[in-house]
Amino acid sequence: MTKYLVVGGAGYIGGVCVEKMIDRGDEVVILDNLVTGHKENVHPKASFYQGDKGDSLLLDKIFSEHQIDTVLDFAGLIQVGESVKEPGKYFQNNLGQGIDLLEGMMRNNVKKIIFSSTAAVFGNPKEVPINEDADKEPINPYGEAKYFFERVIKRFSEAYGLKYTIFRYFNACGATTQSKEQHSNESHLIPLIFQAVKGERPNIAIFGTDYDTPDGTCIRDYIHVSDLIDAHLLAINIMESSSENEYNLGNGNGYSVKEVIAAVEKVAEKPVPVVMGERREGDPARLVASSDKAKKELGWKPKYPEIEQIISSAWEAEINPPALKN
Ligand code: UFG
Repeated sequence: MTKYLVVGGAGYIGGVCVEKMIDRGDEVVILDNLVTGHKENVHPKASFYQGDKGDSLLLDKIFSEHQIDTVLDFAGLIQVGESVKEPGKYFQNNLGQGIDLLEGMMRNNVKKIIFSSTAAVFGNPKEVPINEDADKEPINPYGEAKYFFERVIKRFSEAYGLKYTIFRYFNACGATTQSKEQHSNESHLIPLIFQAVKGERPNIAIFGTDYDTPDGTCIRDYIHVSDLIDAHLLAINIMESSSENEYNLGNGNGYSVKEVIAAVEKVAEKPVPVVMGERREGDPARLVASSDKAKKELGWKPKYPEIEQIISSAWEAEINPPALKN
């Protein structure tokens, strides 16, 4: 049976991938250092190894104990602001350890990778929607490390015949029946709005109201985590015949911060206490994906394209949290 190694499989997005793979009958191995992932998020039907993706000995052990067909790499640090303050940490984790993972794969003759990249590789886009060929000029170490690693993957493809699919996620959010978004030091908009609704924080601050957008607040492309993972499962199907793939993954619909807050108010049927704040450093005004390529080549179709559907699933998980897996 084909085995998949899901690196970062105890995290939010990786956890949904494991859940969906196991539901469809795949055999899954998880590697996660549990720095930002959660032990209770490890699927009981997956084999689990705790450690870094940069740990060569552990990689050799995993690859010798399991016949891995494809590696899916979700593991990485994701906070843009932190990356500006501590760049070394981001280059070390998201780039350096990624190279160690690729070297481990090559040593063990594992030649397929699906890699989680980010819209942050585009920096301040010249045009929206953003297609795959748009200029990649990241404006922070987070986006830069991801972009450099994309380049490394391509070089490994040239040198060793590595087959790859790179996905650039826009704003992943939403929940499934088994997994919800939870980060320590939460910085993401929707979970923070929920905290404000529940009285766990006094309010939500809107970071900037003077952007060049219709209501002055930043516009993002929010994509349901379940749709995101469906694209990965479709990519697995094409990688035998198509070896060099890269896709932007979003809905193609932009929503402003104010629109997201209004959608939460509607779904939760509660008011959100809001304050107007200063701009956050490094925030582009608009990030909206063109996902035409993924739709055309993978046959991908988001099932939850509307912001209210996405927020409903996340709110449901918030008030009725998914059962622990272990
Ligand atoms: N925002 C607020 N108040 C908050 C938090 C966020 O107004 O308290 C705003 C931000 O300024 C931004 C929007 O809400 O305009 C979304 O912010 P998030 O922090 O939720 O997400 P980002 O768009 O900054 O970042 C996300 C991922 C990154 C990825 C990026 C690429 O978290 O990993 O998308 O688009 F790089």
